[in-house]
Amino acid sequence: MGSRIVATGRATPRTLITNHDLERRMDTSDEWIRTRTGIAQRYVISSGESLVEIAAQASQIALDRAGLKPADLEAIVVGTVSSDYGFPSFACQLQHRLGLDTIPAFDVAAACSGFVYALSVGDTYMRAGEWSRILVLGVDALSTMVDWGDRATAVLFGDGAGAAVLVKENGPRGVLGSMLRSSGGFWDLLYVKNRGVQTTMDAEVRRPNDDAITMKGPELFKIAVKSMEDVTRKVAERARVKLEDISLIVPHQANLRIINAVAQRLGLGPDKVFTNVDRYGNTSAASVPIALDEAIEAGRVHDHDLIMLNACGGGLTWGANLIRW
Ligand code: ACO
Repeated sequence: MGSRIVATGRATPRTLITNHDLERRMDTSDEWIRTRTGIAQRYVISSGESLVEIAAQASQIALDRAGLKPADLEAIVVGTVSSDYGFPSFACQLQHRLGLDTIPAFDVAAACSGFVYALSVGDTYMRAGEWSRILVLGVDALSTMVDWGDRATAVLFGDGAGAAVLVKENGPRGVLGSMLRSSGGFWDLLYVKNRGVQTTMDAEVRRPNDDAITMKGPELFKIAVKSMEDVTRKVAERARVKLEDISLIVPHQANLRIINAVAQRLGLGPDKVFTNVDRYGNTSAASVPIALDEAIEAGRVHDHDLIMLNACGGGLTWGANLIRW
């Protein structure tokens, strides 16, 4: 007994910011951003917009595609570090927005690995026979946590939400296995303090330096490549699957150079790796489910294909899910 993703959905804020827009705000260039990261544009949340509303849109699309109503759900698990509140959780706010009551709803905080973690948690509960229809999301708005005067971080992130409906599955399809890893010793490679102002790009508020996302980019780059390669190999090995039998890897979309380096180390060509970082930037926990949703829409995912999701993010956290689609 396990679980299977039967439908996905995605949603983003309204405002699209291109690299050229950023050139007008800070000392950067389209050429620098593209060559270092592969990013050309990203969606960022504006004041007055609600991330819960964006997550609800993604959820509703996934539910409609699954032919289900919110009332059919037995739990909501959200990978996020972007709740407006210390508490209640983002998941509780989303539950209320979807008109639901009493079912368990909780967040999993694993930064960019949030969806991979949340999917593993949801799948494990379903294997235990606890639930049979749940919603798993990855949602983040890291654009609200950067210092918009810090070109080293401000150009990297975008905002959004991706949702997946997970149902109980008794056959050979579904999540074959997951592996989650953390290394708190590397906490200071990427962090933001949980206090102070939340701002949006349009509000023009500068954050004090010690109240914005802080990142050691080059160190992070190396560890992200190694950890994503390692966990991908281990999940495949444990499921007795050869890497060459994987149809598509849907990796965390942090940076095209990280994605390409992982693919190269795994010996996988570009046809086996889905990327959309050029159009979304790094949407943290939302990046894997948004990419998965687009991969399905693009016809890159077929029934019975072996699909690998993998991610690495602040914590450090990393992990992977292997799915027989
Ligand atoms: N525009 C123009 N120049 C810039 C910008 C910018 N936006 N940002 C930094 N620079 C400058 C730096 O100031 C530096 O200038 P200097 O040499 O005069 O001091 C120069 O560019 C080179 O900076 P580096 O940091 O050495 O550039 P690097 O090639 O390492 O690329 C990057 C930086 C893109 C951040 C890279 O380290 C990286 O991708 N790291 C991974 C970070 C990441 O993806 N984080 C996301 C979260 S973690 C995750 O999701 C896995």
